[in-house]
Amino acid sequence: MKIAIIRETAANEARVAATPETVKKYIGLGAKVSVEKGAGEGSKIPDAEYKEAGATVSATASATLKGANVVLTVRRPTATSLKGAAKGALVIGQMDPFGNEKDIAALAKAGFGVFSMEFMPRITRAQVMDVLSSQANLAGYQAVIEAAVTFDRAFPMMMTAAGTIRPAKAFVMGAGVAGLQAIATAKRLGAIVSATDVRPAAKEQVESLGGKFVAVEDEEFKQAETSGGYAKEMSQEYQAKQAELVATHIAKQDVVITTALIPGRPAPRLITKKMVESMAPGSVLVDLAVERGGNIEGAKLNEIVDHKGVKIIGFENMAGRVASSASQLYAKNLYSFLETLVDQETNALAVNPEDELVAATQLTRDGAVVHPAFADKKGAKS
Ligand code: NAI
Repeated sequence: MKIAIIRETAANEARVAATPETVKKYIGLGAKVSVEKGAGEGSKIPDAEYKEAGATVSATASATLKGANVVLTVRRPTATSLKGAAKGALVIGQMDPFGNEKDIAALAKAGFGVFSMEFMPRITRAQVMDVLSSQANLAGYQAVIEAAVTFDRAFPMMMTAAGTIRPAKAFVMGAGVAGLQAIATAKRLGAIVSATDVRPAAKEQVESLGGKFVAVEDEEFKQAETSGGYAKEMSQEYQAKQAELVATHIAKQDVVITTALIPGRPAPRLITKKMVESMAPGSVLVDLAVERGGNIEGAKLNEIVDHKGVKIIGFENMAGRVASSASQLYAKNLYSFLETLVDQETNALAVNPEDELVAATQLTRDGAVVHPAFADKKGAKS
């Protein structure tokens, strides 16, 4: 079995799909590993470290891919960029398939077995493979760091001979994986932290991190969590009540981090222009949902917008801004999954389409799109 790790080509992508640590583990599984020259550069992993771990470093993508049975990536590659890989090779990464169905169909047509790590089920066995969690956790951390850099005041209270600096007030909207880490990070920096969510389970989690929970806790709120642990889209009526509460709260905040997402839907719009304008000049907002339509009116992809002295940060791929840590965890997520696709006795690939993890993540097989969310015809779920 040959595993290839190619250099990511997307703009603003500094992560890499394998680390020297995981390369060693793959070799332990009986695999040969080939890494494209410079693949680890953005994550500060020199080629020499991959070599030391036992990988071959090849000068080009095509040399790296030659004869590979498995290709590990961070982002979705194009079918043409994978030329040279073995027939039917598995391609495992974050495929971001919604809205990119044509690219997935092209990968299927080229015969690749494509797996989308974002679809890993959130069950105990797969926690170690959960890329959404490993990356969202770092995104939540980095969002606060970016806010702190842009904010022109200190976060903690400082009592000095020259006077007292009051602590910053930070408000986190959406207390999932990213939001909870944002709360913890803002707390560690000394801010006074409050947070909101539509799922009742979030209340205790926010409070256990020392945050104040602020939410409209009506009957709808009590039913807002799906069996999968995700948020439902809230009614117009709830959204209006939520907006009213948020409007009064936000006017007193220095820093706002938004992370609210609903699976398969555009991000809910939580902050209007008027709310932004109610904040004091110098305040900072970070929209972690910007790639999915944004929680904040006026947020722009990859920009820091200055709206009447209030800054709105809209960086995509926040986890990629802390690339070394993100790659370390992501590579481990991939290893843990690939290990389950290898027969321990023969060291050969043995993909069982009926395995729960395979069924949930495999997008294409034997030249066809097989995932129920995308195999658009005949009885497929939409
Ligand atoms: P997510 O990324 O889908 O959404 C982020 C947060 O936004 C969620 O907490 C959601 O409730 C919130 N939200 C949605 N609409 C909102 C609105 N209108 N106002 C305020 N907040 C809103 O969620 P994520 O981070 O993936 O977490 C979802 C759940 O899954 C959490 O309960 C988390 O603890 C759980 N989880 C379970 C895992 C496991 O069992 N292995 C692993 C990771 C997360």
